[in-house]
Amino acid sequence: MSAQRKDDHVRLAMEQQHAHSGRNQFDEVSFVHHALAGIDRPDVSLATSFAGISWRAPLYINAMTGGSAKTGAINRDLAIAARESGVAIASGSMHAYFRDPSCADTFRVLRRENPDGFVLANVNATASVDDARRAVDLLRADALQIHLNTAQETAMPEGDRSFGSWGPQIGKIVAAVGVPVIVKEVGNGLSRQTVQALRDLGVQAADLSGRGGTDFARIENGRRELADYAFLHGWGQSTAACLLDAQDVGLPVLASGGVRDPLDVARALALGARAVGSSGGFLRTLLEGGVPALVARITTWLDQLAALQTMLGARTPADLVHCDLLIQGALRSFCADRGID
Ligand code: FNR
Repeated sequence: MSAQRKDDHVRLAMEQQHAHSGRNQFDEVSFVHHALAGIDRPDVSLATSFAGISWRAPLYINAMTGGSAKTGAINRDLAIAARESGVAIASGSMHAYFRDPSCADTFRVLRRENPDGFVLANVNATASVDDARRAVDLLRADALQIHLNTAQETAMPEGDRSFGSWGPQIGKIVAAVGVPVIVKEVGNGLSRQTVQALRDLGVQAADLSGRGGTDFARIENGRRELADYAFLHGWGQSTAACLLDAQDVGLPVLASGGVRDPLDVARALALGARAVGSSGGFLRTLLEGGVPALVARITTWLDQLAALQTMLGARTPADLVHCDLLIQGALRSFCADRGID
């Protein structure tokens, strides 16, 4: 059941990639062009750091999969691409491994193919402290992601319907797991209030993972005979809106959800993200062109991000927050409604 679900997620996420209009709310964020702002390319660095974590580049392959033979092969290829391009990589949810340890290799391959890379394990907020530790141990993970996915669970036929214990359980895992904990959404976004609550629970960073790319309510509806939760399609806040909402909360934020190109990466960094992740788009590249295509895509993005920083006068990704931005359309109304300057 669980292995079949993992294969379904990949298939339906790829159908969504083909159906997506390509537009999202990052289009409402633009840089004011200053023709004399440029600096020299040798002065530009892509290095980023947050929560005691240092990465050579502010980009990562975000959580996706594992748990079936097919998704184990995908994890192997994603891990090789992460190794070859030098970016961090997250596992998909490891609850399939807790239920059936015989699928351990479909996750462990992330570390086997990428022994020196930065690897994140991934669990949900119902995981016991022991299971969170098992997930970290299996991957010798450098950090743990905990995903929040109430809209997905609600649309999922076999999904969870009890969410009240999630906050306290996150606190217990943070206190015990021994590696930095990053709490993430799966494409519906984290609000300011949620990021504040996560800060108060002691988590080390929040991955806002907003609307605009992969839509899990739509994926789960695709797995039902009747798509009776279709009203949840498009639920939540866009990644750009989440970034604006979470300014100055005092918790480092990462951005994912609908990141399409190096300009979106620069926009997210300029809105305060310390690093930027992609899942569905990178998976599509891998499935269509294999490991070489994904390595080429990631290295091109990094090269073009450095080019944008050079043009915009940002020596580091963090310096992009000093750029002048124009916020337009519905995103501007969102800021007015939420009292964001
Ligand atoms: C995901 N995502 C995800 N997230 C998570 O925390 N645990 C998981 O197991 C999965 N599984 C998963 C499978 C597939 C096939 C995709 C495409 C995505 C969600 C992912 O990490 C990310 O938050 C969203 O996909 C939004 O980013 P993109 O896809 O718009 O770049």
